[in-house]
Amino acid sequence: MKSITPKELIKSSDKSVLILDIRHSDSFKDWSIKDSINVDVYDDIWNGNFGDVKQKLCQLPKDKKIVTVCNAGVTSQNASMLLESMGYNTLVLEKGMMGWNALHQAVDVANENDLLLKQIIRVGKGCLSYMIGSNSTKECFIVDPSQFVEEYLEIAKENGLRIIGIIETHVHADHLSGAMALKEFTKTEYYVSGTDLKAKADFLDLDTLDELKIGDNSIKIIKTPGHTDGSVCLLVNDKALLTGDTLFLEGVGRPDLGRNKEDIEKGAKILFSALNRVKELGNKLIILPAHFTSCAKVPICEKLGNLLYNNLTLKISSEQEFVSYILNNLPMMPPNYGQIKSINSGLMRLPRQMGEQLEFGPNRCASR
Ligand SMILES: [Fe+2]
Repeated sequence: MKSITPKELIKSSDKSVLILDIRHSDSFKDWSIKDSINVDVYDDIWNGNFGDVKQKLCQLPKDKKIVTVCNAGVTSQNASMLLESMGYNTLVLEKGMMGWNALHQAVDVANENDLLLKQIIRVGKGCLSYMIGSNSTKECFIVDPSQFVEEYLEIAKENGLRIIGIIETHVHADHLSGAMALKEFTKTEYYVSGTDLKAKADFLDLDTLDELKIGDNSIKIIKTPGHTDGSVCLLVNDKALLTGDTLFLEGVGRPDLGRNKEDIEKGAKILFSALNRVKELGNKLIILPAHFTSCAKVPICEKLGNLLYNNLTLKISSEQEFVSYILNNLPMMPPNYGQIKSINSGLMRLPRQMGEQLEFGPNRCASR
């Protein structure tokens, strides 16, 4: 069977491609590739009901190149085989949604004077990491890396930069962090809030730092608790703000993860006050979040001035209204979040393959 990698699929400008997801419809509803369609033939394939599969798929347009998608790229090979026997032209998405979950794409946010700022978009998961580099010293920091650490090593290498530190805006609960692994691999510093990272680990505490430097560039550490007690935003050259999970383009961070019922309201109040401090940083400030819902336009960013009009949660000016809005609009819990937080805090370790399975699924870090 011919296959296509997630990287090739996202770069493809072939208008004849139709992405066919053959998983169960509830899995598809929960998490899918944008513009894909779902025909649930998963069980039929496993049960050998090939006549039923063919009947369900025969309505697909014959003039399309069909990319078949399942969980891990195995069952979709059978779907492709059956489709080919029906005269369709198909490709199998390599590693299916697991492969889609691992896809990273780097785009420039700024490349001027001494600053090379890149946004690393994890397309399938909705997560964003960053590389803050210096053109003069050829060094960089990686911010909020995923567990796919090889992606960051590759991006730094491609740009001729040496990683000198890993920074986390907070300890994540929705996806596995690559910070500790990347720190060990590069033998560099790991910066995170000591309030968030409760485990014994070798790190530099962002709670006690106000600024980091890289070449001529300044990274101010703005303390913005709320999403977590130790959340920070990173102000790069007073022009761009990496907001972590404090502020997104369409919403704000959720304050409930890891908090008990009574503390969620308190967390929402703390978040409200942190957001008010962010609002003061100037309308021209470029907001660079750690999650997104749409990557139609890259880099994924917006001027703070525009968000003050467009972001409905950020617009709320009364604390009471903000808190009740947040409490009434909390999304579902991210799957396995307790376990993910323990791993990210260094309290437990997991082999990589199990790690990929653990964080399978969409991101659920925002209140909107
Ligand atoms: Fe988060």
